[in-house]
Amino acid sequence: MKIATLEKAYLWVSAGVLGACLVAILYGAAATGIHLPGRGERIDPQQVRTTPPFDRPGVHPVGENEYDVVLIGQAWAFFPPEVRVPVGAKLNFITTSADVVHGLHVEGTRVNLMLIPGQVTRYPYVFREPGEYTVICHEYCGIGHHTMYGKVIAE
Ligand code: CUA
Repeated sequence: MKIATLEKAYLWVSAGVLGACLVAILYGAAATGIHLPGRGERIDPQQVRTTPPFDRPGVHPVGENEYDVVLIGQAWAFFPPEVRVPVGAKLNFITTSADVVHGLHVEGTRVNLMLIPGQVTRYPYVFREPGEYTVICHEYCGIGHHTMYGKVIAE
């Protein structure tokens, strides 16, 4: 095979890989709703404890079989440290940080969020299996990072 033919083949392969990556990004954004955090929902990080809904952390019914789960991350704990939620209910996790950047991962689930000071993070989730789920902070947030745990009890 001539060199020029091989070069052309490589160019087409390279273009194909780029095209596939672009399609994957567009599919992720349009079909599965994966986005970077928007600028839409901001709060004053100094006033978290007095700003709704974070003035009432915990689980609150908002509709038929639907609950807001309001959690605050703060060095080095989640507030409240433990929440009880009904299995099968539509949950709206609503979180933020009161100081530095934290992570919130509910082990064994797709709930994997960044808690950014001044930014409200929302995520819908339904627990299908009852159990005790450990909540961990997965973003290094200081000397007590490894002690930052919480718990979700689905029952
Ligand atoms: Cu909070 Cu690591």
